[in-house]
Amino acid sequence: MDCFEITGPNRLAGRIRAAGAKNAALPALAATLLTEGSVELSGLPLVRDIRTMTRLLEHLGTRVETVGGTLRLTPSGAPVTDNAEYDLVKTMRASILVLGPLVTRFGHARVSLPGGCAIGVRPIDQHLAGLEALGAEVTLEHGYVTARTDRLVGNRFRFAGQSVTGTENLLMAACLARGTTVLENCACEPEVVDLARLLVAMGAQIDGAGQGRIEIQGVDHLGSAKHRVISDRIEGGTFLIGAAITGGDVVLEHACAADLAPLLEVLESAGCTVETRSDTVRVAATEPLRSRSIETAPHPGFPTDLQAQYMALMSQAEGRSSVHETVFENRFQHAPELVRMGAAIQVDGGYAWIEGPTPLSGAHVMATDLRASACLVLAGLVADGVTTVHRIYHLDRGYEGMEEKLRSLGARVERTSE
Ligand code: UD1
Repeated sequence: MDCFEITGPNRLAGRIRAAGAKNAALPALAATLLTEGSVELSGLPLVRDIRTMTRLLEHLGTRVETVGGTLRLTPSGAPVTDNAEYDLVKTMRASILVLGPLVTRFGHARVSLPGGCAIGVRPIDQHLAGLEALGAEVTLEHGYVTARTDRLVGNRFRFAGQSVTGTENLLMAACLARGTTVLENCACEPEVVDLARLLVAMGAQIDGAGQGRIEIQGVDHLGSAKHRVISDRIEGGTFLIGAAITGGDVVLEHACAADLAPLLEVLESAGCTVETRSDTVRVAATEPLRSRSIETAPHPGFPTDLQAQYMALMSQAEGRSSVHETVFENRFQHAPELVRMGAAIQVDGGYAWIEGPTPLSGAHVMATDLRASACLVLAGLVADGVTTVHRIYHLDRGYEGMEEKLRSLGARVERTSE
């Protein structure tokens, strides 16, 4: 297993390019199951979750070819198997995204209940209730979801709570259902909008993506399309927090300031200089950081996927701040690791209180999920001495060449094998 050795303190300065969004690329890959043609996807990040999803698609009979920096995916006319097995699915919760496309296109699907980040109980009840509302017969057995239908039929379905992949799964399923589907209380994340853009390019009829109510007029077939995924606001946001925490100055290229707005507003209020241009965002730490409390929420609220990184930042800000995690329970596993490095953090249920600034000192640390690992890397950048972040495979799920990007900004980071 690999780990990162970070020798601090560091100051991040320079320009880097945001990678393509992992969470937009995963549903885009799943959507290729809906068509009889080929779909060319570009801008996909080179991260492990994407390789896992392409392996899953290959297992389902899709031909995957690399043409320059583009992936061309051509699904088989009938699936070689409708079975998304545990071994392929266990490392990545987003594997559930193949359920909707498989059942709506082929009338049957069998998908292992997903694994993924250990951030609390993460049910998929809304995905299943939505498919049932469209007429699928859904059963849960031996750790697998099985869904069957002659053909899905459009219906009205209201999500009990907003779910990003739940919205994406049902959006894809509804594209080939007979008649009109109305989805209510949908997730409004930019990645949902990006998926809808791809589906429309494939011939789907979708109205309202990015809003709470999405209306889909089912069609009989979807065709070929070319699509470039949006840039990764979470990866980019992590580097911008990196600029803020290290007293640095980073320009993020290929960035969408509107998608990053919930973070940028807080960084500005915490004392950072924030400049946005057409596709660049600059964050510079020009004065001492002030503590600012946040509450995570579905988009356009503060993203839960930046909560851990933000907590590291607040350990270096003047005063007391709170972080209220409302999207997931049990998403504070980074807090005790930060405390081991010298941070003053108290956790109570969904709240964490951070007293800053506290000097951090290098230590051996380990995280059990993707974004918590990123938080520990950021803490390691400002800590005095060597921080060893273990189990970097979590980070590799979602960050493309993180150590190279950090080094290009001046950080002393090495990847080593344990
Ligand atoms: C997606 C993102 C993930 C991000 C999360 C929230 C992808 C591949 N992953 O995950 O990085 O952290 O959105 O922004 O896009 N829930 C239910 N029942 C369901 C579905 C969800 O109760 O059927 C709950 C979850 O337990 C959680 C909340 O709803 O508390 C939000 O989860 P959801 O939006 O579904 O997260 P994901 O789509 O898995």
